[in-house]
Amino acid sequence: MIAKVDGPPISITGLGCYVPERVVTNDELATLVDTNDEWIRERTGIRERRIAADDQALTDLALPAARRALEMAGVEPASVDLVVVATVTPDMAFPSAGALIADQLGMPDAAAYDLSAGCTGFVYAIVQAHAMLAAGLAERALVVGGDVLSTILDWTDRSTVVLFGDGAGAVVLERVERGGFLGFELGADGGGGSNLWLPGSGSRKFDEPEKFVKMNGREVFKFATRVMVSSAEAILAECGKTVEDVDLYVPHQANVRIIDHAARKLGFPDEKIVVNVERYGNTSSGSIPLALADAAEQGRLEPGTLVLLTGMGAGLTWGSALIEWTTSTTGAFA
Ligand code: ACO
Repeated sequence: MIAKVDGPPISITGLGCYVPERVVTNDELATLVDTNDEWIRERTGIRERRIAADDQALTDLALPAARRALEMAGVEPASVDLVVVATVTPDMAFPSAGALIADQLGMPDAAAYDLSAGCTGFVYAIVQAHAMLAAGLAERALVVGGDVLSTILDWTDRSTVVLFGDGAGAVVLERVERGGFLGFELGADGGGGSNLWLPGSGSRKFDEPEKFVKMNGREVFKFATRVMVSSAEAILAECGKTVEDVDLYVPHQANVRIIDHAARKLGFPDEKIVVNVERYGNTSSGSIPLALADAAEQGRLEPGTLVLLTGMGAGLTWGSALIEWTTSTTGAFA
C-alpha cells in the first residue's frame, strides 16, 4: 500500500515514552550466555538495554508513555475516541492492551484494539489512526507502540537475547491547521515470516512446545537492508520529495549496521540520522517513538522539520511515514 495524503492535515500533537529502570549491560549478558561486549557492539552497536521488572507488563510501560503524550497535547483522556496499540507482547491475548489502556486512562467513548505487525507496528498503527481521523470516523487518537520482548526471549539463546530491549512510546493524533503527515507506504511478506517468528504462540500446534522468538539473523539482515531502502525511496517518490528535502531520518532501531547501510544507500548524512540503539537495543514497536523523543531532547525536532520514519520487522513487514512536524515535543520521557 502506498498513498500520498489527500485530505485534512493530521499530525502528532503529543509524544510520550517510557523505559523500565533496569539497565542490562553487555557485560551482564556475558554472564548469562557465551557472548562479550566487543562482539555485541561491533555487530549491533548496542551497549545496553532496559529490561522490565517481573511485575511489569506492556500496559505498565504504555500507561506512563500515554499519560505524557496526552499531557503534552493538552488532551483530556475522555475526549479520545480511538486507541490503537501496536505490540506483539500484550498483557494477554484478550482483553486487548488497547481496551485495558482506554479503561485505565478514562476513555469511555474510545474504540480500542491491538495490532500485530512486529517492529513495524507503530507505523501501521499511525496509518490506521490517520485514516480514521481523515475519514471523520474519529477526532482524537492515541497510538501506542511498545513491547516487553524480554518476556518472549530464550535467555539461553545468544543469537537473540543480545538484540532486544523493553520500552513503549505513545503519540496523540489530531487534525491541525497545516503540515502533518504527507504520505505512507506499508508492506508485508508472510512468505518470509518464519525468518523471525514465535512458533507455538497461537492456535497452530508445533512439535516443540517452547514459545520463544526464533530468528534467522542473516536472512532478516538481508531483508532489512533491502526494505529500509526501498520503502524510503517509494514514499519519497510518491510525495514528490527527495532525500535532500528530509531534515530527519528516523529508522527503526534494530542494529546500527542496518541503519548505516540504509542511510548510506539513501544518501543521508550523519547529522540527519537518529540513532539511539546503543542505549535501548531493539524495542520493537517502541523504537521509533523512543528515537523521536531523543531527537526532540537534542533539539533536532521542531515545527517544520520534515521527518522520514521507516520501520521493518516480523511478518515480515515494513513501512514508512513522511511527516512535517507541527508541535514542540521536548520532555517526552515520562
Ligand atoms: N555473541 C558472540 N558470538 C555470537 C553471538 C553472540 N551474541 N551470536 C552469534 N555469534 C557468533 C556466531 O555463532 C558466528 O560464529 P561462527 O562464525 O563461529 O559460526 C559468528 O558470531 C557470526 O555470526 P553471524 O550470525 O554471521 O553474525 P552477523 O554478523 O550476521 O550478526 C546479527 C548477527 C547481529 C543477528 C545480524 O545478523 C542481524 O542484526 N540480523 C538482523 C536481526 C534483527 O534486526 N532482528 C530484528 C528485526 S525487527 C523485529 O521485528 C523484532
